[in-house]
Amino acid sequence: MEFENILVNQQENMATVTINRPTKLNALNRDTIQELHDAFKVLNKDKSVKVIILTGSGEKAFVAGADIAEFSDFSVKEGGKLAAKGQKLLFDYVENLATPVIAAVNGFALGGGLELAMACHFRVASDNAKMGLPEVSLGVIPGYGGTQRLPQLVGKGRANEMIMTAGMIDAQKALSYGLVNYVVTPEELMPLCEKLAGKITNNSSVAIRYAIKAVNAGFSTDTDGFDKEIKAFGECFGTDDFKEGTTAFLEKRKAHFE
Ligand code: COA
Repeated sequence: MEFENILVNQQENMATVTINRPTKLNALNRDTIQELHDAFKVLNKDKSVKVIILTGSGEKAFVAGADIAEFSDFSVKEGGKLAAKGQKLLFDYVENLATPVIAAVNGFALGGGLELAMACHFRVASDNAKMGLPEVSLGVIPGYGGTQRLPQLVGKGRANEMIMTAGMIDAQKALSYGLVNYVVTPEELMPLCEKLAGKITNNSSVAIRYAIKAVNAGFSTDTDGFDKEIKAFGECFGTDDFKEGTTAFLEKRKAHFE
């Protein structure tokens, strides 16, 4: 896949998507959001891709936010449209993707950058990472899901503090907040993400897809998460992966999922 603002690299059943605008600290402009959507769509359809790692190029930033230059003269209507379109194309899209996405946070993850990392299924950070939602310092609020996902991940009080102060937290604090699952050196970041991705690829992609749906249902206001879990659990019993997984266990061998 060839894109202008992102790089996509596939190795066996893992894909890495790298946001590649290092001179703009990988800020998310309209084209980058569209390209990310297109890349995730293609990778999600590809049955050989079982896990995706999302990162930013360069040593400085994962993503330093939405591209401020692009929306500084927007009207009320255009502002609303920007958030709605972005959420649909990228942030909600990634969160609900059937293929797991790990965010490798390799530096600044600010505004839309932190919102993108939070839309991923989980996050790993390098020890130079800095995270925050600085929008109120620009006279706006987070518009790509930040007011919802940050409280979900770190709790309402911590989220309110981060949003209201517009401050940045370092990787260790993010770890203590549960915003990221691990903090490692920049050199160890991709190897750790690949190791975690490798563990995921050993498991049933079909079951993981159902698990993502059930977990997300619990955070949606119009779905009952427990009910979704019951239905998804039941549906697993009709899959080849369930037959293979349970048979392999009873035969004392390793399961081989497609
Ligand atoms: N949108 C557009 N451009 C951005 C950007 C963003 N969110 N973040 C960084 N850039 C650009 C800068 O304008 C600069 O471009 P230039 O070289 O053409 O002038 C380049 O990326 C490098 O950034 P710079 O500010 O010079 O780096 P720094 O090391 O001094 O500061 C940050 C790093 C992250 C602290 C600073 O870039 C920043 O505050 N960025 C905005 C963060 C933000 O508010 N994000 C939320 C947006 S809603």
